[in-house]
Order: sequence, then structure tokens, then C-alpha cells
Amino acid sequence: MSKIRKSVLAMQGYVPGRQPKGSFVKLNANENPYPPSPKALEALGQMTGDKVRLYPSSSAEELRKAAAEVFGVPFDCIVAGNGSDDIFTMIIRSILDEGDTLAVVDPTYTLYETLAEIQGAKTERHPLAEDYALPESFFESGAKLKILPNPNAQTGTLFPEADIIRLCESAQGIVVIDEAYALFAGTSSVPLLKRFKNLVVTRTMSKSHSLAGMRVGFGMSSPEIIEAFMKVKDSYNLNAASQLMAAAAIKDTEYTAGVVAKLNETRNFFAKELVSLGWQVAPSHGNFLLAKPEKGSAAEIVDYLEKEGYLVRHFETPRLKDKIRFSIGTKEQMERLIELLKKYHSEVRA
Ligand SMILES: Cc1ncc(COP(=O)(O)O)c(C=O)c1O
Repeated sequence: MSKIRKSVLAMQGYVPGRQPKGSFVKLNANENPYPPSPKALEALGQMTGDKVRLYPSSSAEELRKAAAEVFGVPFDCIVAGNGSDDIFTMIIRSILDEGDTLAVVDPTYTLYETLAEIQGAKTERHPLAEDYALPESFFESGAKLKILPNPNAQTGTLFPEADIIRLCESAQGIVVIDEAYALFAGTSSVPLLKRFKNLVVTRTMSKSHSLAGMRVGFGMSSPEIIEAFMKVKDSYNLNAASQLMAAAAIKDTEYTAGVVAKLNETRNFFAKELVSLGWQVAPSHGNFLLAKPEKGSAAEIVDYLEKEGYLVRHFETPRLKDKIRFSIGTKEQMERLIELLKKYHSEVRA
């Protein structure tokens, strides 16, 4: 008899984007190809011996102050996490009891379901429509917790604000909007927090702020909900260096806006090029896009690109296995990628 919990034995665990050794253009985890704000790197200079010797602020006070100001929310309405993944852990720990239900859409970011499994909760998957619109069943579900990324993960598509409002109005429990990619879309549900006390909005510093390696994210909601998250979080969940770097990076809004504008322009260029090669491209509002080749299998193209030094993401799930998710790199990286795809279509397949 195993000493491990049954639910943990039965689960598969989350599978992150591969990190093979060697020199690759890494476009498989929606990381940012540009460095973080120079002010963030400068802030690392404050890492004195004492900063390392002592525990960091357990509530990430200075970082939360900076983030609250930038997001326009009161200080007691925000919690910081070791990446937004840590915020999802807090959400699931504090809201779902064993046997409760989490509702998600399909396709989407699969970590939510993994965390619910660890908690012994069930997950309802609601398939998105052909055009990736929300299905009626997602609004109608009585689940205690609904988590929806906007823009959606894997597809990059954006749900209209009217959908988010309808979700908050009709939900019997908590609605979480994961805004990992919101700065690329230029829209946000943060203003809705004043209106809906059952709404939680999450953000990450991993995508638009180029700090994936530092692991920083935020959750925003009513003071009562944030108080619950504070109780269940690990006591020193954010290390001192991450707190310093993220506080400097989040305040440098001008730098972030410049990086986001460059990546959006490159994404639109890459989408146009793919369409001219006959690919079907989902309209993306993130720093990545999902596309289906006209000819050739997606898995075969992913292997070909890896041999040519490009890592891109392929999911073996029914809705995604015929498609590839490309993170957006620099303009030069994406131009070279288009050249490789042209070569694949003309030479390799021929
Ligand atoms: C929708 C979505 N949410 C959250 C994350 C993870 O963010 P973090 O690095 O802040 O844990 C990702 C990562 O790819 C994502 O796609």
C-alpha cells in the first residue's frame, strides 16, 4: 500500500515547456525575448549581506505598495505570489474543499486543473466553441470556483468584457480572471473589482515584464478574499531579490509599454506571414499565437524546427494536436522562423 495520497498517485502533474540543454531560440513557454527594465537589474545592487541573511518581508509590503499604485487598487486588495501560479495555489487552497468543483474552459492553461486535483476537488471542462467563444454551459455552471484566462492561454483569443460581467453576475461562487497576458491585449477586468466582490484578478511579471526567472505574480480582490489568501500562503513566499526587482520593474511602466508594443507588432507581422503560407491563425491578443498548418502534421513541423534550433510548443490534446503554439520572439527570430517554415513547405515536404 502506497503512503502517498490516492489523488496524488492518480494525477499526472503539470508538464511545463521543455528546457533541453543546448542553444535554442526558445519560443515554447511564452517567455519574453527582451531583458527586463534596466531599473530592475539596478535594484539587484541593493542585495546586501543583510538582505540575504535575514528573511524577506513576508507580506512583500514595498512590492505590493508599488503594484497597488500601478494597478489602481487599495493596498489591502492585493497579494503577491511566487509567480501567479502561487496565487492559483492560494485560491484553490482557500476556496475548494475536497469534492468541490472547479469550472474551466477547454482548451486553456492546465495548471488550474492540476492544483484542483491536488486538493481532491473535481474539474468541469467546458469546451469552447469552434471560434473559441465561451459556451453557455460555462455561464450556467454552479461550480464553486471558475477560472478563466483573458486573453485565453493556448488560443490567445480575448473574451469580451460583457462575458466577464455576465460570469460575475451569474456565478454562485468566485470568478477568477487570469490576466497573465492582459498588457498585450490592452484591456483589463481590474476596474470591475469595485463592482463585483466575487471577482479575483491575477497578474504575472513573467510575460510583459521579462521576469519569469524571478517568479512574481499578484492576486487582486476584496479585502476579505485577500485576507483568506494571506492566511493560506507560504509564509515567506517571495524571496528578497524578487521583491526588489519586481517593485522596480512594475514602476517602469514606460519601459514595459515599449516592450509590449514591439512584441505586438512582431506578433501581427508573424501572423500575416503565416496566413500567407496558408496557415490558419487564431486572432491572438497575447505574446504568442496558435496556428494550424495547411499541410504537414504539427508534430512533424515541431520536430523539424527543433532540429533547426527553434523550440515551439505542441500539445497532444484533441483540440490542439493539429496546431502549434509559437511564443513571439524578436523580429529577427520570427523572420528566420518564417524562412524555416517556407523551407519546410517547399523542400522538406516535397
Ligand atoms: C494563462 C497563464 N497563467 C499563468 C501562467 C504562469 O505565470 P507565472 O509565471 O506568473 O506563474 C502562465 C504561464 O505560461 C499562463 O499561460
